[in-house]
Amino acid sequence: MKLFVLNGPNLNLLGVREPELYGKQNYAALTALVEDTCRQEGIDVEIFQSNHEGALVDKIQSALGQADGIVINPAAYTHTSVAILDALKAVALPAVEVHISDVSKREDFRQVSYAGMACVKTYMGLGLEGYRQAILYLKDYLKGQ
Ligand code: DQA
Repeated sequence: MKLFVLNGPNLNLLGVREPELYGKQNYAALTALVEDTCRQEGIDVEIFQSNHEGALVDKIQSALGQADGIVINPAAYTHTSVAILDALKAVALPAVEVHISDVSKREDFRQVSYAGMACVKTYMGLGLEGYRQAILYLKDYLKGQ
């Protein structure tokens, strides 16, 4: 089983960026958590972060034939990107959405998730632990397919 774990804009600045919202752990801590979780679960993983919408679309398209499922935190593109939604629908792989913060309790403009419309599950407000939960959920989901 192989998963793509994709992260959108500004997540490379974890630890520096609004720590009261996103925590003090940096992006390296996030990639370590994802790699450790996948190693323990016997999952191959490719982790990718970009600040560019088109690069994320390209990466989602490249999952076809390469990955069995996608964990994605599109960050700000969650609330704006029909292109990311369409890419997820195009590849039609099971996808799980993650948000470090609890977006449901934040600004009105964060209340729409386009990417979430193509996802089988969303984790929010759990900090980096949400990624671990998403990987475990996707593993079970794929096994049940
Ligand atoms: C985020 C929430 C988004 O609203 C925000 O734009 C982000 C991060 C999260 O992980 O909580 O960049 O996706």
